Amino acid sequence: METIQTPQGVLAISDEEFEFFRSIVYEESGIDLSDKKKALLQARLTKRLRELRIRTYHEYIGHLKSHFHDEIEHFINCITTNKTEFFREGGHFEFLRTTVLPAYEREKRRRIRIWSAGCSTGEEPYTIAIVLLDYFDGRALPDVKILATDIDSRVLETAKAGTYKAESVHMIGLDMLRRYFYRGTGENQGLFKVKHDVRRLISFRRLNLLDESYPMKNTFDIIFCRNVIIYFDKDTQNALFAKFHRYLADDGYLFMGHSEALIGRSSLFQLKTNAVYEKSGNR
Ligand SMILES: C[S@@+](CC[C@H](N)C(=O)[O-])C[C@H]1O[C@@H](n2cnc3c(N)ncnc32)[C@H](O)[C@@H]1O
Repeated sequence: METIQTPQGVLAISDEEFEFFRSIVYEESGIDLSDKKKALLQARLTKRLRELRIRTYHEYIGHLKSHFHDEIEHFINCITTNKTEFFREGGHFEFLRTTVLPAYEREKRRRIRIWSAGCSTGEEPYTIAIVLLDYFDGRALPDVKILATDIDSRVLETAKAGTYKAESVHMIGLDMLRRYFYRGTGENQGLFKVKHDVRRLISFRRLNLLDESYPMKNTFDIIFCRNVIIYFDKDTQNALFAKFHRYLADDGYLFMGHSEALIGRSSLFQLKTNAVYEKSGNR
């Protein structure tokens, strides 16, 4: 395999190298890279090559093969797309606040289990926790546990730290910001840290959705898996729906990204409302 040098002196991934990377990405993460993603992959790997002081993609492939166990995590971290934000696709949190939580309260449900699968840097599980705390404000909070998982170990570190720049929290109202975040002062000016009351509801774990089985023992009342499956092909998506079906309580809800229409593609779920699904034949 030969690494190509472009006229600008920037390393370019050859077609053969791209095919190699593409198959590894698919096997290890389920992410299906189209031909159009070559430049993106190149841009993302450049930094890793620099860190390792490796000059060519050919050399990097050798490194990946010989240090597979250690390097694969770094490699996958380079290729994931982690775009997220607080209260993203806000209708979902409105549905949670106005429909799901009032129903749980009427039923006097004492235990709520939620999974944010593909949580990226944490904005999604923190938003869920804030919505719950806000809803039950002044009343006894049920036993709430939110599991937040991602394949990318780097974004999980950011998520665990729970510290965000002002531009990341701009869509959170001032009142909520004051209640649920510490505002940084001095050298932390411009930073906002999620308060302990919010953080204590969430456990962050590395988990590859592609794994045959997951370590969780019980089902979830709610699963969020938004803007993750768009990167997967149909077979991987269908295998994942089957696993979500197994991990979702019979009266549970599956929240998908708004661009990830599941309807008509899985007989296991039926649409409840905007990109929120429930198990077929259960209601
Ligand atoms: C675009 S972010 C979505 C974040 C959040 N759910 C949202 O909608 O704002 C997609 C996340 O899925 C993760 N991901 C991709 N493939 C994965 C896999 N096989 N297992 C677990 N997480 C995966 C990525 O690392 C990334 O952080």
